[in-house]
Amino acid sequence: MRKPVIAGNWKMHMTCAEARSYMATFLPLIENTSDDRHLVIAPPFTAISTVAEIVRNTSLEISSQNVHWEDQGAYTAEVSPTMLLEHKVRYAIVGHSEPRKYFSESDEQINRRAISAQRHGLIPIVCVGETDEQRERGEAERVIRRQVEQGLEGTSCENLVVAYEPIWAIGTGKTCAATEANRICGLIRSWVGSSNLIIQYGGSVKPANIDELMAMSDIDGVLVGGASLDPDSFARIANYNII
Ligand code: 13P
Repeated sequence: MRKPVIAGNWKMHMTCAEARSYMATFLPLIENTSDDRHLVIAPPFTAISTVAEIVRNTSLEISSQNVHWEDQGAYTAEVSPTMLLEHKVRYAIVGHSEPRKYFSESDEQINRRAISAQRHGLIPIVCVGETDEQRERGEAERVIRRQVEQGLEGTSCENLVVAYEPIWAIGTGKTCAATEANRICGLIRSWVGSSNLIIQYGGSVKPANIDELMAMSDIDGVLVGGASLDPDSFARIANYNII
């Protein structure tokens, strides 16, 4: 039985003061949320300790937005797994399309981050997904398969999440049709060969499409950007109903 993971990726949003105010609205809205799902928030590094302190006695778990493969060292601007564990961080997003695009993150680096996260007991959320040009050229499956195979090499299928985030659907309002997202998630599951693997969909997830997405057989959760910045929207997503 795969327990869905509903995660909000705040990206480069939320000061500590804004995070406090968000949680004051959000936490009461998830007080009665069923425990048949994991609820996760990924604040920017600067707000992690503030959010971790506020959610300490709740079911809400914390993710980082990246993690380095070394425990310490001369890696300016990076954050290590041990630093995250000190703040009770449970998940680490790796390979998001934004660092892939803006900082040329490679599949090899993403793989090292994922392996290190697992070695420290963090659950990596490994993001994969194609651009619209790749989709138009009929290359989507090949691109995603390469990202999956190289990104997950040497990782364990336990304590692992893969997020299928088609880049053309991120922040654009263009959601991938639920049936197509489900088809790709099913392909990823067959390539990895694990029926236990948790596979999320991400890309313009909102209150209006969450129920349809979560009713799909191979979609085990969502990774939400924009709609997770509004506590009412994200609470509606967290409280999805399985149709
Ligand atoms: P949006 O939900 O804003 O499309 O962002 C998706 C995403 O990138 C989550 O990691």
